[in-house]
Amino acid sequence: NWSMETFIDDTIAELREKVGNKRVLCALSGGVDSSVVAALIHRAIGDQLTCMFVDHGLLRKGEADSVVRTFSEHFHMNFIKVDAQERFLSKLEGVTDPEQKRKIIGNEFIRVFEQEVKELGKHQFLGQGTLYTDIIESGTDTAQTIKSHHNVGGLPEEMEMDLVEPLNTLFKDEVRRVGEELGLPKEIVWRQPFPGPGLGIRVIGEVTEEKLMIVRESDAILRAEIAKANLEGEVWQYFTALPDFKSVGVMGDIRTYAYTVGIRAVTSIDGMTADWARIPYDVLEKISTRIVNEVDGVNRVVYDITSKPPSTIEWE
Ligand code: XMP
Repeated sequence: NWSMETFIDDTIAELREKVGNKRVLCALSGGVDSSVVAALIHRAIGDQLTCMFVDHGLLRKGEADSVVRTFSEHFHMNFIKVDAQERFLSKLEGVTDPEQKRKIIGNEFIRVFEQEVKELGKHQFLGQGTLYTDIIESGTDTAQTIKSHHNVGGLPEEMEMDLVEPLNTLFKDEVRRVGEELGLPKEIVWRQPFPGPGLGIRVIGEVTEEKLMIVRESDAILRAEIAKANLEGEVWQYFTALPDFKSVGVMGDIRTYAYTVGIRAVTSIDGMTADWARIPYDVLEKISTRIVNEVDGVNRVVYDITSKPPSTIEWE
């Protein structure tokens, strides 16, 4: 019978035993799993932990700030933020294929990480937020073959670090409880699933600064209105996506030719299957009006009413 207090105490003891006086490096993504791992390892070994956060420029509005605030300012961890937005954007230039984009983002992430590790000095261990479910799923999960999940699969061999994976016996809801107990903020502990390649796969086709801005701003409006309507607990995942086409509209007697924003909101248990969420029309109307009025370059908003299958949750 799993008890959280015992889990935390036992894990801290094990971590201290295993790590000794060596150093541990954690790559923070801002997601639940890597955040909880960092907080747990920090509780165990304090300053022997270094956290690295690579900002690839494909995060949602406010997300990078929230990571910095939490880990650097609140927990006072040894914290390194790598600003790699331009690197990722230039690598993605001209690339339109979804799987190609995933591959590029995954590879670039590892490259940035390796480069920074060299400058950091010796860290014997790498902390990873692998969950029990990640272990069972890799290999059998069909989603793995439909879309490659780059955050599963480990590190390049030549990095020669030993893995510490203190969450690898836990399910997601247990991880969240550990996170709450360790004092992580709600916005991190209850964060909805967010793909490793981030907004890079929510901009359909080529990723540009302008398109990222549209997704980021429209997504922030969607999130704000879902929160205001108290629907956060009912919808499992919700976001905006930007299809790669323009259409005609009219604003104040002037013809426009601009982008369409797609709203995706689903209910689900585990993401393997999903149903489109029945968001009330008046909430959708508010979201649509705000997006067209407040986000430059958009003159149309559509709502995705397909389930998974036959669609997937993400548009790429
Ligand atoms: P799909 O689109 O396959 O998404 O129905 C199922 C769940 O997985 C997330 N997803 C990803 N997560 N890397 C990730 O870490 C990826 O490349 C990726 N693609 C999809 C998606 O957000 C949803 O929660």
